[in-house]
Amino acid sequence: MARTDAEIIGREDVNDLDAILAITNTDMDEAIHTVENNADSIFTWDYERSRVPLMKLYEKAKTSMWNGETDLDWSIEVDNEKLARENPLTPTVAGIAALGIDLSGTALASWTDDEWVTFEMERINWSLSQFMHGEQGALICTAKIVETVPWIDAKYYAATQVMDEARHVEVFAKYLDTKLDGHYAINHHLKMLLDDIIADSRWDMTYLGMQIMVEGLALAAFGMAHQTTEDPLLKQLLRYVMSDEARHVAFGVLSLKEYYEGLTSAELLDRQEFAFEAAVRMRDRFLQQEVWERLGVPVKEAIRVFKQDDPEIKNQDPFQQLLFSKIVPNCKKLGLLDANDGWLRKRFDTLGVTQFEDWADTSEEYELLDEVAKDRAS
Ligand SMILES: [Fe+2]
Ligand SMILES: [Fe+2]
Repeated sequence: MARTDAEIIGREDVNDLDAILAITNTDMDEAIHTVENNADSIFTWDYERSRVPLMKLYEKAKTSMWNGETDLDWSIEVDNEKLARENPLTPTVAGIAALGIDLSGTALASWTDDEWVTFEMERINWSLSQFMHGEQGALICTAKIVETVPWIDAKYYAATQVMDEARHVEVFAKYLDTKLDGHYAINHHLKMLLDDIIADSRWDMTYLGMQIMVEGLALAAFGMAHQTTEDPLLKQLLRYVMSDEARHVAFGVLSLKEYYEGLTSAELLDRQEFAFEAAVRMRDRFLQQEVWERLGVPVKEAIRVFKQDDPEIKNQDPFQQLLFSKIVPNCKKLGLLDANDGWLRKRFDTLGVTQFEDWADTSEEYELLDEVAKDRAS
């Protein structure tokens, strides 16, 4: 029996804005956050190497390592205000009016283009902060996979990913620290998701939560950030990080494909529910409530003005949809979309993202995205 949506995500209606915003980060001032890890650490005495795709991926990872200190040009000066002012995506008073959005009676009515430039700078800081926190989640999750996965080839590969993730946390932290003005605390919806992934005792759930869902979304989000930034340092940083992430998502798809083939319908349903929960948590975090809070704008007001509380409009937001463009085909490849009479497909329909099901899955994409090898060859 499938659990109800309320049992899985803590609310009846996936679009219930009050319930989404009622969840806020409560331990912002704490430097340490502890999560109980309920999984067993597994030794294997079978050192026989048999999983050819994972062996290939491991070899690729070894030669694609880069050094965040020396391979990125940290001498580049970053003028955030100029970048925000010149970015065609930064909202303007005239642009908002042209879209027919009515700000009258809200805190945003008095905003000039300068305030929108500040908003854009905060938005970038917030996005990169969440990337950084997510990267730390990945660091912890892949260290956990090294311990919990029973296959030697997967332990070897996961060990390379631990190093990749350390580098990712390092470069985002350095960028936020030296090129931007501090950072934002972790968004609570993201934190809940990372906590759930780490607390789960089943080794494959770490893969599903991290490699398929969080990293699948990250790959899409990094791609969009890479396309829209004009800062050459951030562009290069994202290009290198994405090159690693493509391998990470492939690791998830290749490992779980094999494992899920042996699961029962009831076991697959657990995985479908977890994928749905993760999708909702990630969608909730993109309301960027902390940015509005920092700028002194009532969050609900801002969200209502831009109609992000309207499921019809929200589900057609191309940015929001594209975030799921890697996750949905990967879930399909794993058999999660259609198992149990399409349980997950119906849930993805309510989020407006099923249309990506026939896009390329990510099990091979890492070959194309090897930016480090491309740069070394040139
Ligand atoms: Fe990463
Ligand atoms: Fe990753």
